[in-house]
Amino acid sequence: MAGMVAAVIRNIVILTGAGISAESGVPTFRGPDGLWEGHRVEDVATPQAFRRDPVLVQRFYDARRAALVHVEPNPAHLALARLDREWTGDLLIVTQNVDDLHDRAAEPGHGRPARLVHMHGELKSALCGRCGATQPWDGDLTGADPCGCGGTLRPDIVWFGEMPYHMDRIDAAIAGCDLFVSIGTSGAVYPAAGFVDAARHAGARTLEINLEPSAGTQLFDEARHGPAGRLVPEWVDALLGG
Ligand code: APR
Repeated sequence: MAGMVAAVIRNIVILTGAGISAESGVPTFRGPDGLWEGHRVEDVATPQAFRRDPVLVQRFYDARRAALVHVEPNPAHLALARLDREWTGDLLIVTQNVDDLHDRAAEPGHGRPARLVHMHGELKSALCGRCGATQPWDGDLTGADPCGCGGTLRPDIVWFGEMPYHMDRIDAAIAGCDLFVSIGTSGAVYPAAGFVDAARHAGARTLEINLEPSAGTQLFDEARHGPAGRLVPEWVDALLGG
């Protein structure tokens, strides 16, 4: 069966969300209490929130960035990094996550996975609110010097009401894919939540891997429910032929 599947599938798009990093210890957004580390998502993840209280928002993301040193990629990230190295067809891994766990899952020396895009930005990047320049960022942004142009630096995160990154590349990849796989995302946030529909229109097979049924679970041809750390390596092993 795995060989048969691999023979007909060439072009794959994979969407990942917070659930893929949950087993690494990164909290998801929509927990049972509806709060993200004690805040409503809208209070720390909108341009309005940043205008209203830039220090609160900077500190919030500074804490998320600092927490990255305590987490490691889990078997799901490692399996997708292996798929990126070994899959000879087209592949695009689209992550909504702003952590760097997909990036770090690439083998040392291999560098950042070439076929990965962070559609909602990255914690380890700073964005100038005035000129739009980005730069790699490791420490705190609170109290950082302004950009060379004089603008204030902000987290390079796509907030609610802002345009996600790489949409042209993502749309083109989905239009040409034969398999779309959604991993660890609740399907609550657009445009990512609409990718499964676009993939179906493109004639792709669709697979959901999530701890529980997502908001759009009925749109998928197949759904596997359980922890990504077990289900994603199983799926990649089968696809690559063991
Ligand atoms: N394995 C698989 N799935 C899991 C696991 C796990 N171990 N743990 C949790 N999940 C699932 C949850 O059941 C939930 O459906 O992951 C999903 C996480 O959903 P959200 O917290 O809503 O995260 P996500 O879908 O990535 O959020 C999308 O919302 O706030 C914005 O920009 C932010 O990128 C984020 C976007």
